[in-house]
Amino acid sequence: MIVYPEIIAVREYCRNLRHSGKKIGFVPTMGYLHEGHLSLVRVAKAETDAVAVSIYVNPMQFGPNEDLQKYPRDLERDLALLEKVETDLVFVPSEEMMNSPPSDIRVVPHALSQTLCGKFRPGHFEGVVTVVTKLFNIIQPQRAYFGQKDAQQCIIIQQLVKDLNFDIEIVVCPIIRENDGLAKSSRNVYLSSQERQEAPVLYQALQLGEKMIREGEKKRDKIIGRMKEMVYHLPTCTRVDYIEVVDAETLQPLVEIKGKILIALAVYIGKTRLIDNSVVTI
Ligand code: PAJ
Repeated sequence: MIVYPEIIAVREYCRNLRHSGKKIGFVPTMGYLHEGHLSLVRVAKAETDAVAVSIYVNPMQFGPNEDLQKYPRDLERDLALLEKVETDLVFVPSEEMMNSPPSDIRVVPHALSQTLCGKFRPGHFEGVVTVVTKLFNIIQPQRAYFGQKDAQQCIIIQQLVKDLNFDIEIVVCPIIRENDGLAKSSRNVYLSSQERQEAPVLYQALQLGEKMIREGEKKRDKIIGRMKEMVYHLPTCTRVDYIEVVDAETLQPLVEIKGKILIALAVYIGKTRLIDNSVVTI
């Protein structure tokens, strides 16, 4: 496994791989890796000839009152985990390397970033899409791997690739969960023991929504209402940004419950904002 902090070195390494006919699979991350991230590397490993992982906590995608400063970091542990799953290349740029002098150009998603998380985190998806564009241009992979855990991010990146004509195939991988259903997340370390105990209720609320839809419930408000009841009931729930039932492709609220449906939520457990989702097709 090779670790590069320099854009020039990464470019050259990837160019050589491409020239020798190798297919590159790319997994962008912000580090503090867990089984969710590693599952993406494993799929990439199975589908391509060389896997590149980036670790970069991207300041552009954090709002002024968000957790950029305290976002968990442990590079040594991350590298050991990546070595174990036989990652070929790890790109670990500094903030200076990625954004100095500060870039003037941004890539701005529109309609798709105005719902769900985008509504509550202004500028977040602009930051994500801009950094992912830079990373795509540096690595130039044939395939890039993203987790369904961040459903809106996946949809927006798929649109990015389509709209800006990137020659990259986006592969979306399933959500990896703890045994009790809580979706794995780097932010789970923020949870106190009581919060951690209660957090799986988010998944249970999604399962309730899913069950109601499968059993024929057609009223969106009723589904959302029942899920909200369940979540608000938690002593550690401090805020619900949204619990939504939307079209899984357009992310617009569903008038009629049919087709491919995304049930998504963003909820604060104590001070930690957790997101999760589930897709149901009927
Ligand atoms: P990060 O939160 O580190 O996540 C990196 C990738 O891992 C994302 O594609 C995310 O969806 C996936 N992932 C996280 N938890 C997962 C889980 N429980 N199951 C499956 N996949 C999971 O997402 C980002 O970083 C950033 O926005 C990034 C794309 C790197 C741009 O900065």
